[in-house]
Amino acid sequence: MPESVKNSGKVAWRCPSNIALIKYWGKHGDQLPNNASISITLQNAFTETIVTFEFDESINNIEVIFEFGQQRNESFESRVNRFLLRIQPQMPFLRHLRINIESKNNFPHSAGIASSASGFGSLALCICSIEELLFGQISGFLDFRQKASYLARIGSGSACRSIYGGFSIWGQNSTLPESSDVYAVDINHHIHPVFQDIQDSILLVSSEKKQVSSSDGHALMEHHAYARIRYQLAESKLQELITALQTGDMEQFILITESEAVSLHALMMLSESNYILLKPNTLAIIEKVQRFRAEHKLPMCFTLDAGPNIHLLYPESVREEVQNFINDELLQHCEHKQWIHDRIGKGPVKLDIA
Ligand code: DP6
Repeated sequence: MPESVKNSGKVAWRCPSNIALIKYWGKHGDQLPNNASISITLQNAFTETIVTFEFDESINNIEVIFEFGQQRNESFESRVNRFLLRIQPQMPFLRHLRINIESKNNFPHSAGIASSASGFGSLALCICSIEELLFGQISGFLDFRQKASYLARIGSGSACRSIYGGFSIWGQNSTLPESSDVYAVDINHHIHPVFQDIQDSILLVSSEKKQVSSSDGHALMEHHAYARIRYQLAESKLQELITALQTGDMEQFILITESEAVSLHALMMLSESNYILLKPNTLAIIEKVQRFRAEHKLPMCFTLDAGPNIHLLYPESVREEVQNFINDELLQHCEHKQWIHDRIGKGPVKLDIA
């Protein structure tokens, strides 16, 4: 360890969640995706993680205390412990650490916002900051963000996309030679201005606990009758979406985004467990969104995560009209008339906690 470096300290990061347009659904090996995915990183829904650390060569197994929302949480703690063990080949110094992790989300649980993406994103960034503090540099990767994205992926696949603001892509594909299965890449330089201020209104149809965890959902793709065709379609839709994002083709963007959302749920329904996560109110909203779009010629579309809540996407220029529509026609289908407003964001922020 260089003389100037500290062997104890505190680091903190805020990392937003993201919503996928082309979905990651199905994985293999060490959390590698079966198809490439594209997402938008949000602005308002984030996790903040503070890690207090002490480097002590006399310990040989990392010692971890994990608190979520100021409470010790043993089930998260064991997931975090598994994560820290799995990243030790890239971060061998971890075994000599005593760390205390404090994490909190600023959005409700079960809101249709992926908390594992923001959670593992912020933790991976903290781990990279610790490496930088201990050794003065980040080893083995092009830069800090690439390594953080790599580590975040091991925690939760979709988390690797949250390391970048705006649009990012994860998964090797023929359209973008710089893409990779092991980390996400920033694709904002490819994006037409019409998509650069995209808004995301999250309509809370149900806060019921998820019937199936993401990991179990991915596993159902292993013997899925439609797996091969799914991965072919995902690749072609990804190429088409990249072209639409580059050229500013809103019509294609809408077509592909909605088709992907529906495909994700169709895959779940056609899986061995044939589970249905959509609720009657999800379908009622989808129908109204499509009708309103046709009648008013508004650039607005929906996407879905692995749950019943709707993400309504539209450019800032039509914000007022869309939000009036939400208030007048969609809130009646939301649980307790709840919705959360978000938008495309600038990505993670290092927090000053000195
Ligand atoms: C439907 O990233 O949560 O949200 O890698 O098992 O942690 P693990 O899964 P996760 O899966 C996300 C699936 C999705 C689509 C997406 O975000 O691309």
